[in-house]
Amino acid sequence: MKKVKDIMIKNFNEVTTGDSVSAAYQKMKVSNIDTTIVLDKKGRCVGVITIWDLMKAKSLCYPFDTTPVEEIMSFPVVTIQEDSSIEESISLMMNNRIKNVVVVDKDHRVVGLISAKIIVECEECVINDKTRCTIGKPYKIAIIGGTGKQGRGLALRWGKNGHYIMVGSRNLENAEKIAEQIRSNLTSIGVEPKVEAGLNNQIVNEAEIIVLTIPYQSIEDLILSIKDGLHEGQIILSPIVPLKMRDSGEMGIDRHRISAAEKVYLMTKPLGPETVAAFHTIPAANLSRIEFPLNFDVVVAGNDAKAKKVIMRLISQIPNLRPLDGGSLKNAETLEYLTSLAINIGRKYKKPTIGLKFI
Ligand SMILES: NC(=O)c1ccc[n+]([C@@H]2O[C@H](COP(=O)([O-])OP(=O)(O)OC[C@H]3O[C@@H](n4cnc5c(N)ncnc54)[C@H](OP(=O)(O)O)[C@@H]3O)[C@@H](O)[C@H]2O)c1
Repeated sequence: MKKVKDIMIKNFNEVTTGDSVSAAYQKMKVSNIDTTIVLDKKGRCVGVITIWDLMKAKSLCYPFDTTPVEEIMSFPVVTIQEDSSIEESISLMMNNRIKNVVVVDKDHRVVGLISAKIIVECEECVINDKTRCTIGKPYKIAIIGGTGKQGRGLALRWGKNGHYIMVGSRNLENAEKIAEQIRSNLTSIGVEPKVEAGLNNQIVNEAEIIVLTIPYQSIEDLILSIKDGLHEGQIILSPIVPLKMRDSGEMGIDRHRISAAEKVYLMTKPLGPETVAAFHTIPAANLSRIEFPLNFDVVVAGNDAKAKKVIMRLISQIPNLRPLDGGSLKNAETLEYLTSLAINIGRKYKKPTIGLKFI
């Protein structure tokens, strides 16, 4: 893993106390580095001149040629040890709201400068602690039918973001087997897994998000089997598509009065949870390949703005997926129809992992 000393600027700008602001400015102009380190006569770092200091000096009419640097420099100086990790330098910059940090060795001699720009541009600068990659709080996510293709993919993706995943099944052994596979996949990419297994009806009560990755035909029986664990404050996510092969061989929708998501909503709303529909057009095969960039849009439909926002945030944590607000839950019907269309197009053009993107 890269350390600060591997990417820092070694030929940084420096001036000595007594030098003019103009000298510092000239160095910044020539080097294109917007910070100059100020050293005292013994070579100790006593301040820095940033582009902000120059602007402030200008606004106060300080003459650059005759003003000594110590009159306008920023101090005390935020420093970092050369052996520190990139994460530590990011934290320092963010906590102090600065773009550059002076790098020192163990004897506190200045050896370089690390900047936010360098970190952003450094492709090998990976973050060791992957749980940092979770945006916001970790959720407890129960994946009902988590032994299936779509459930496993979502468990992997959100497990990678540091969420607590409970893999559900009608059969405990199946759930344990898949949970173990997911744990091992996450460990292999350096993520500490927080993945457990359980029977569908046993994992629902403590879950904040309940993902129904089950076949359309099983909705009624499944909800009856988990209803005791459903309560207010939970969000049910439905990616369910009532697919039905037409006589023509094309994929179609098992036509009913309402969508699968609305069916879930009508059955569960009296118990408290909100229902949100999403992920219909994201193929499971892509979700499961954890390093595969999912360059798709995910349209999210739901009646409760807060619940929709939570799901949209969870979607945006999966690299390259873009959540789009698709309005009320009534629009889940369109999403379900669009999925059958996408499947037919994918088949025609031999691209089974086709998805949607709005441009
Ligand atoms: N696959 C995709 O690419 C994709 C994409 C978008 C949306 N979806 C939707 O996501 C849902 C899941 O798709 P999938 O491909 O993951 O399906 P799947 O692999 O066929 O099944 C998922 C899981 O559902 C459980 N299940 C099966 N029959 C059940 C029943 N009668 N009652 C309760 N649980 C039952 C099974 O788990 P246990 O036997 O362990 O209980 C199974 O592992 C579907 O509604 C599908 O339309 C799928």
